[in-house]
Amino acid sequence: MKVVLDCDPGHDDMVAIILAATHFELLGVTTVGGNAPLWRVTENALRILELLGRQDIPVAAGAAGPLMGVLPREGERVHGVSGLDGAELPRPTRSVVREHAVTFLIETVMRNPGTAVIATGPLTNIALAMRLEPRFARSVARLSIMGGSVTQGNVTPVAEFNAWADPEAAQIVFSSGARLTMCGLDLTRQAAMGPEEIARLRAVGTRTAGVTADLLEYYREASERLTGSRAVPLHDPCAVAALAAPELFEFRFAEAAVETRGAHTRGMTVVDQRHWEAPGADGRPSRPGLVRVATKVDAARLFDLVAEALAACP
Ligand code: BDR
Ligand code: CA
Repeated sequence: MKVVLDCDPGHDDMVAIILAATHFELLGVTTVGGNAPLWRVTENALRILELLGRQDIPVAAGAAGPLMGVLPREGERVHGVSGLDGAELPRPTRSVVREHAVTFLIETVMRNPGTAVIATGPLTNIALAMRLEPRFARSVARLSIMGGSVTQGNVTPVAEFNAWADPEAAQIVFSSGARLTMCGLDLTRQAAMGPEEIARLRAVGTRTAGVTADLLEYYREASERLTGSRAVPLHDPCAVAALAAPELFEFRFAEAAVETRGAHTRGMTVVDQRHWEAPGADGRPSRPGLVRVATKVDAARLFDLVAEALAACP
């Protein structure tokens, strides 16, 4: 499967890049301001691909902030000021491509029928692509996102970071009619890594495994200080694995929308659990607003998948 990954690395985004680069023909990585400012997450994406020896994968920089308002600084609390604190990654030997991420996404998807898009940051670039090219939403073979929640949030009682960082963009995407899979917090919290799981990744022994383990340990400790939990959810890799290894997941279809106005609920994904619905005959949501929600993941097998990917890296 051909894939473009739109992300804001970010510790868990890094693992998503590693999984995507090993499982798919990764046509490009596009970046969006989110966990850290755009220039930092873009530099991080270049450094990660440098570490992987995958300088052949183009990186395109995208939106610096949300459609409305300013980029929140909440990401710093778990990812550090750089967006990827906790280890030193190699300096990039190249730069980003000239095209803006939104142009890159549109051109890549329109020129390569069957291309899937995975989004693990705020949905600003994806929403802009849908606005600029009205055929984009229907042309993406699959759109798998990490974002939202069926129940509790993380940045607010009800809102998850990626949806909350750009609710207008998220609502454009949710109502677009794209073949959308949502990996929200209820799912990603099932894939939480404690020190033992991180040690198992380190034991894979490659340089990439060591650096990834150092980074995940930073991320885990930062998250433990905030939440009191020893285990940190490996959010973003779920959105990659939902396409790479769907047999590890359970999915249900439901109507979902993003709250953009609520005084206490802005950024909340409102999933109608009263009516789980059947997909359309072609596997697409049978009408706009219907989303394929990943509800269960086999965490042990997901971690195996990550370990295998790290073993395949330098
Ligand atoms: C999401 O927010 C970011 O901090 C992570 O990278 C993930 O994409 C989880 O709410
Ligand atoms: Ca992310």
